[in-house]
Amino acid sequence: MVKRNKWVAGNWKMNLDYSSALELTNNLVANLPGLNGTSVTLCVPAVYLDALKSIVNKNGLIQLAAQNCHSEDKGAFTGEISAAMLKSMDINQVVLGHSERREYFNESNKFLSEKVFKVLSHGLTPIFCCGEPLSVREENKQNEFVTNQLEESIFHLSAEEVAKVVFAYEPIWAIGTGRTASAEQAQEMHAVIRHFFEQKYGAAVAEKLIILYGGSVNASNAATLFSMPDVDGGLVGGASLQANDFLQIISAAANS
Ligand code: PGA
Repeated sequence: MVKRNKWVAGNWKMNLDYSSALELTNNLVANLPGLNGTSVTLCVPAVYLDALKSIVNKNGLIQLAAQNCHSEDKGAFTGEISAAMLKSMDINQVVLGHSERREYFNESNKFLSEKVFKVLSHGLTPIFCCGEPLSVREENKQNEFVTNQLEESIFHLSAEEVAKVVFAYEPIWAIGTGRTASAEQAQEMHAVIRHFFEQKYGAAVAEKLIILYGGSVNASNAATLFSMPDVDGGLVGGASLQANDFLQIISAAANS
């Protein structure tokens, strides 16, 4: 069995003013526990990327990610940022397809397939989110729903490209609600996702894929979630805004 290193990504969403963003990042850099191979990423508002880069570069142990980018390199898309711009700033990761982007900004599986392709073509790592709404879970159709999202946005990629994507399973009913999926529910879906990739790309690709769980991960539940065999870490929203909580989650990953 392949040993996969853990990942913890904090998703700040549209939170924190500039000085709080600097303070939190300085605090994290200064107090980071032993990582034991765990990758740590902060997914921050794009306007802060450049300033935070000089803070995380102090020890080089935290990566920065944008929370979104467009599928085109440049042009008349007011308010958007491109993968090419991120690359030119030496930002190497970007979240794509977060449920809030899908829901409030109508991002479709097709549009996301174009974004993923573009991001990979610039050599960036996409952190690709999938996950079902409550109504789908209540009908017990979550497996079909999530695999359809992956099929429509990811399956055009080659095996080599898929291997560079980090996935995040985020059931929408668990995001920001305090209602976490149980460790068993998370494990079940992560295994479904891994098996789905195995069928299309083979076991060698599937067993190396990093699949994060997101949805009300906190300092108390992180260790249990991360102990599941197919849960490779977390995409953490609310709890990533408090240094102590986020540091405890990183420790949970590093010790799992
Ligand atoms: P949450 O958000 O941890 O606040 O539920 C997770 C996410 O949306 O990435």
